[in-house]
Amino acid sequence: MNVYDSARMADVLAPHGYRSVGSPDDADLVILNTCHIREKAAEKVYSELGRLRKIKTARDKNLNPMLIAVGGCVAQAEGEEIWARAPWVDIVFGPQTYHRLPEMLASSQRKEAVFHAEFSAEQKFDLPLQINTSASTSEYLTIQEGCNKFCTFCVVPYTRGEEFSRPSRNILREASQLIARGAREVTLLGQNVNAYLSIDEYGSKISLGELLFQLAELPNLERIRYTTSHPRDMHKELLDAHRQLPEVMPYVHLPVQSGSNSVLTDMNRRHTADDYRHAIDQLRTARPDIAISSDFIVGFPGESEADFLDTLTLVREVEYAQAYSFKYSARPGTPAAIMRKQVSEDEKKARLAELQNLLRQQQISFNKKFIGKTVSVLLERHGRHNGQLVGRSPHMQMVHVNASDSLLGKLVQVNIDGVDKNSLSGHLFTDKFQQPKVTN
Ligand code: 5AD
Ligand code: SF4
Repeated sequence: MNVYDSARMADVLAPHGYRSVGSPDDADLVILNTCHIREKAAEKVYSELGRLRKIKTARDKNLNPMLIAVGGCVAQAEGEEIWARAPWVDIVFGPQTYHRLPEMLASSQRKEAVFHAEFSAEQKFDLPLQINTSASTSEYLTIQEGCNKFCTFCVVPYTRGEEFSRPSRNILREASQLIARGAREVTLLGQNVNAYLSIDEYGSKISLGELLFQLAELPNLERIRYTTSHPRDMHKELLDAHRQLPEVMPYVHLPVQSGSNSVLTDMNRRHTADDYRHAIDQLRTARPDIAISSDFIVGFPGESEADFLDTLTLVREVEYAQAYSFKYSARPGTPAAIMRKQVSEDEKKARLAELQNLLRQQQISFNKKFIGKTVSVLLERHGRHNGQLVGRSPHMQMVHVNASDSLLGKLVQVNIDGVDKNSLSGHLFTDKFQQPKVTN
């Protein structure tokens, strides 16, 4: 979502004469778009600010000044602290305020104000996209933002604010613009993307599933993905979309965080491990080849060895295609940060290593199943080696293949002959005339 937001910031600033440059050395304005989800991400901001200070102070203030802005969730949560720890920063603005960037830049008062969210994402959406620039083959599109679920470990409800779903009409318009500019795949974004709910111009409720049906009708949109989902919001229309729409890719990121009911209760997830198993069963019934990915937290306060073993059991049952796992990081202002029975760092480390080992094995076995198979790959960019292009399979695996540049942005069929943990490789499937099989 920060990638998407950063692109929108560039859009907002373009009419004011700003364009992106490759390095802070060449920039008049540097914006750090920050993440507050774990302590490590938040602390990175300050080390980055230290580096920028050196560039800024080396500049001639009159001839070649540099403005530094801190946006995103660290700005929202730690605005005052940023001024105190990095007084060379010029602008601090929360994630729901970037539509006001031109005004902030023009303001002579900018040092005094922290531009905090008004807690409605509404205003910042539907800024005009820069229609003239070309889109990437695969683009993000935020459809929902914020969260009302208040998991006890998580800062999102405080930094991104209340759940807000964009009107479907505006999403369809933005998707059409992206397609007209060359996108073939769109990933719908939201902290709680499957809680998406809006009312269309006829007064009908539009859920994520219904939105997928509408998007699938757009010509030239080959692939649709969405992330991140919550197990409580796997509604029937979404399952129908997976069952019926070939454009909806067979991959779902469905975080469970823990396999222990007592930890899930303390996390305020409001579902049990069995509810999660049921959600996975439903997805697999709707689309048997669906790949599942998840997020896990180890060492949540009070997590016992038995709780952790419940997580490993769940992982063994589900068999993930891919997953992200983290040590619990206490976030100021969240209920879990002051829970008693915090787990020791050593314990967290050991559990994380064990979980990641299991998840890595599952990812490799998942990938190995594709050896000898033909998969469709949407070629997105050049690979590291000469003549190599890289794209993704329907199941989100990165696929490397030797192919000519003319195939960039196209869907091709690839015979898979190599596998490692993070990617697949193969050669173009060719017909009897030695032509690569290209769908688009
Ligand atoms: N500590 C560790 N991991 C966290 N996440 C969210 N908050 C925390 C935290 N305080 C993880 C969750 C979430 C993902 C985006 O980040 O697993 O799904
Ligand atoms: Fe955070 Fe996701 Fe829980 Fe919302 S549902 S509070 S975004 S972990």
